[in-house]
Amino acid sequence: MRQKLVIGNWKMHGSLAANAALLEGIKAAPARAKLAVCAPFPYLAQCQTLLSGSQVAWGAQDVSSEARGAFTGEVAASMLGEFGCGYALVGHSERRTYHGETDAVVAAKALRALEFDIVPVVCVGETLAEREAGQTEAVVGRQLQAVLDALSIEQLGRIVLAYEPVWAIGTGKTATSAQAQEVHAALRARVTAKDAGVAARMAILYGGSVKPDNAAELFSMSDIDGGLIGGASLKADDFLAIGNA
Ligand code: PGA
Repeated sequence: MRQKLVIGNWKMHGSLAANAALLEGIKAAPARAKLAVCAPFPYLAQCQTLLSGSQVAWGAQDVSSEARGAFTGEVAASMLGEFGCGYALVGHSERRTYHGETDAVVAAKALRALEFDIVPVVCVGETLAEREAGQTEAVVGRQLQAVLDALSIEQLGRIVLAYEPVWAIGTGKTATSAQAQEVHAALRARVTAKDAGVAARMAILYGGSVKPDNAAELFSMSDIDGGLIGGASLKADDFLAIGNA
C-alpha cells in the first residue's frame, strides 16, 4: 500500500506574514496523508524554520539543470540540498509553457535534484487541444520517457510523478476520477516496462483543480496516490481537508 502524499504548490503567492499563518495552520492539525509545501525560493528558509520538528516537508518549485556557474537567476540543487529541501517540482506546465522547458531539460533537472537527495516531482500533462486530438497518452508518455531514459532504476525509485492536465490547472475543471485513473495507469505501465518494483512503489499524484470536495473521489482510484495542489493549498483548512480526504 503506497502512502498518500499531498503537496502544495504555492506558485508565486505568499508573504512572510501570510506564510507564517498558513504554516501554523497546516502543522497544527494531523493529516492522514504525508504533506509537503513547495514555496517560492525566498521563503524556503522560512519554511525550514517554521516546519522544523513538524511532519510537514517542504520543497522548491523548480531547480536548475546546471550544477553551478554563470546562470543568472537560477538556483542550484546543491543550494537547496544544503539546507534540507525535501522536494523540487520539475517540469510544471507553467515552466514548460512560459520558460520553454523541454523534456530533456526536465529530465536533467530531475537528475540534478537526485544528486542532492531532493525528491524531484516530475510533472507531465496534456493541453486541451492534445486531449481533444486523442494524444493524451502519447504526450504524457513522451514527457515521461525522457525521464525514464535519463535515470537509472535506482534513481527512478526516488522520484514522484505528477499528472497535471494543463486544461485542469487553475481552471476549476478537474479531470474526472476515471479520466485521471486512465492516465495514471498508463503512466504506471510505462514505468513497469522499465522496472515493475519501482512502478509498484512510485507515488503518482494528480493535480489540476483538486479541492476538498473532489479529492476523496480522485484519491480513491487505485493508481492515484495523492495530489499536487495549487489554489487550495493556500488555505490551511482546504489543504488539510485534502490531506485527510
Ligand atoms: P490548481 O494548480 O490546483 O490551482 O489547479 C495545480 C498545479 O498547478 O500544481
